[in-house]
Amino acid sequence: MTAKAFVIGHPISHSLSPLIHNYWMQSLGIDARYDAIDVAPEDLPAFFDRLRRGEFVGGNVTVPHKEAAFALCDELDPACNELGAVNTLLVKNGKVWGTNTDDLGFQRNLDAGAPGWSDYLREPILLGAGGAARGVLHALRGHRAGPIHIVNRTREKAEQLARENFDVTAHDFADFASIAPRTNLLINTTSVGMNGSSFEDLDLSLLPDDTIVTDIVYRPLETPLLATARARGLRTVDGLGMLLHQARPAFDHWFRRMPAVTPELRSRLEAALEH
Ligand code: ATR
Repeated sequence: MTAKAFVIGHPISHSLSPLIHNYWMQSLGIDARYDAIDVAPEDLPAFFDRLRRGEFVGGNVTVPHKEAAFALCDELDPACNELGAVNTLLVKNGKVWGTNTDDLGFQRNLDAGAPGWSDYLREPILLGAGGAARGVLHALRGHRAGPIHIVNRTREKAEQLARENFDVTAHDFADFASIAPRTNLLINTTSVGMNGSSFEDLDLSLLPDDTIVTDIVYRPLETPLLATARARGLRTVDGLGMLLHQARPAFDHWFRRMPAVTPELRSRLEAALEH
């Protein structure tokens, strides 16, 4: 019988995940299919009941369900407890198990795009203080990053993260000029950049020459932030790789096969992004 996997979100029609997983299923000869399913927030508990009945081997969870799905799981990977959010579900014996592969995706994307990035991290700067920032913060934890600066439009949200994490300091955008010269990693975790929007008053000329700039936004592939960083001669890593690298371990959870991020797969995604 053809195994079924899914990604749930709301909205979900633009998701690239079906392209990724169906490509891997086909290239590895696995009899399975992966579909995007729109689930409204109020329908999430009923969807979990459907999962427990065994229709799917597992699936992915995206915006806005990551926190609610965490709460609905029957069992959790202890590694994602601190995060309070899941992006991957596995169904076994009528139970839903949840984990989070986003932080691995973030790390592997930088490993591939900026080798050596974690050898000597200097005061990383995260733009944003939402769910994605929490994930990146978690990913940086294992790397002895030193003080981590969170810059957020709403300063109070950055301060909340600083209260929860001893190594985090909170800022608003006005502080960027004073912390920029001390970093070597700038990460955008906000939605700014989507569809070409850009930050006002973010002076990238203040960043040291060895700074790596990365963005979780991948629509467009080169956000205005990355374009400015590249023009300034800095190393940049786009967000599409993070999507690909979080997908690999998820696929492995369902099918016990670790797929590869190939140039062909990446170019298929790039082509899909252009439409
Ligand atoms: P996610 O879970 O994807 O991180 P979120 O929790 O809604 O989404 O967080 C979105 C982040 O983008 C927030 O840090 C938000 O800043 P605020 O906390 O001030 O809302 C940030 N953001 C969204 N639009 C922005 C804009 N135009 N300028 C600056 N920051 C913005």
